[in-house]
Amino acid sequence: MKKPRTLAEPFKIKMVEPLRMTTPEYRRQTLQTAFYNPFLLRSDDVYIDLLTDSGTSAMSDQQWAGMMVGDESYAGAHSWEHLERTVRDLTGMPYVLPTHQGRAAERILYGILGGIDKVFISNTHFDTTRANIEFTGGLAFDCISEEHSNPFAELPFKGNIDTDQAGKIILQYGKENISAIILTVTNNSAGGQPVSMHNARQVRELCNEFGILFVIDGCRIAENSYFIKHREAGYAETSCRDIAREMLGLADAFVMSAKKDALVNMGGLLVMRDKALAEKCTNLLIISEGFATYGGLSGRDMEAIAIGLKEIFDEDYLHYRIKSTEYLGRHLHEKGIPVLRPYGGHAIYIDAKTLYPHIPVEQFPGQALVCDLYVQGGIRCVEVGSVMFGKYAEDGKLIPAKSELVRLAIPRRVYTQSHIEYVIDVFDDILEERNQARGVKIAYEPPFLRHFTARFEPLT
Ligand code: F0G
Repeated sequence: MKKPRTLAEPFKIKMVEPLRMTTPEYRRQTLQTAFYNPFLLRSDDVYIDLLTDSGTSAMSDQQWAGMMVGDESYAGAHSWEHLERTVRDLTGMPYVLPTHQGRAAERILYGILGGIDKVFISNTHFDTTRANIEFTGGLAFDCISEEHSNPFAELPFKGNIDTDQAGKIILQYGKENISAIILTVTNNSAGGQPVSMHNARQVRELCNEFGILFVIDGCRIAENSYFIKHREAGYAETSCRDIAREMLGLADAFVMSAKKDALVNMGGLLVMRDKALAEKCTNLLIISEGFATYGGLSGRDMEAIAIGLKEIFDEDYLHYRIKSTEYLGRHLHEKGIPVLRPYGGHAIYIDAKTLYPHIPVEQFPGQALVCDLYVQGGIRCVEVGSVMFGKYAEDGKLIPAKSELVRLAIPRRVYTQSHIEYVIDVFDDILEERNQARGVKIAYEPPFLRHFTARFEPLT
């Protein structure tokens, strides 16, 4: 059989950013000074940065050109009009609020909808979403579908919400106490897995039945749409943009970190159908972010988001994006690395507990792998396990997260095929030395979102 052609990048490079090469010895020392937490590393000491796909995209020439015509007027800037028009067109929702990033939109919306014992139900709350809800005294329940329980089962929509479980929570807490159902697409904290249109429709029906607000956290909605096009019956001939419009058409509100699928380095959106809710949100926006026509953004940022929201739905780009992430996943899988399947849209997730079976969860196998990848290859990535989601029981014992994952998130339009080949090669060394891998213990942790600033010590 003829070998398939390499899937080359559907863009060429106009500007380069040099990368610094370092040695394992240097990185060992650097990691120690960063307390074994890659969030505390200097980016200059990182060769391939897979910490996040958030705010790390390369903008296009069109976006940079848009930056030059950005209108920096305080009120009614044409860049704002461009953004508002673009977002209304995509969402079909009339009220658009710009924020400086996704969590600012979350803070405003959940600050208003939340409060003591107010209940939120999601397929999986992203960590900032949960933190913003819990900060108000609200309760955040994750109802991930049963299909997700086997990390290696090849099922098409493992990001779905379990609507039966959600229904039970509604009955248990009373519909008047449910503030919203939040559908996170793709489901970042659950392996970057997509959500089907069918599932979104089920959520709409559940919300109609009980009179509950339906929010889509859609920072990766274009990637999710690609999966629907290729995996859900009836969508093969529909454009990814129309799929996104259809899904957003089902929701009452849309929260977006523009740092992902809007292909920019900073920005967020809070979009709604309801006038009264929008008025409350606008008041909070003006108090904490900025006037309603710029929120937390410069005119040039809004211009770049408006352009990015169009570029992201380019079918060639989306094909390359999803297939190149899959390439990394498939090659790691073929090497024997336990990789979550199917492969996520924006990231590959490695099951560190399976890779390092000798490290107990109390010693954070995911954090151990994150450290090893940095030392071996200068690769930076993030633990998505008990460091990020673990809690403590009253006796101080760790209540571990459901899984111990490591996420390799792929920035958009930044790394080339050979960078990805390099990452695949580094895993040869990880495999060779897996038996020598050692866990870590926490030396310091803050009360919220501890993974960002916690300090660790290696165990010998
Ligand atoms: N919702 C989801 C699903 C996210 O993935 C993120 C951010 C946010 C909300 C918050 O947006 O960062 O703009 O305030 N995710 C990043 C990540 C940080 O690395 O996955 P933000």
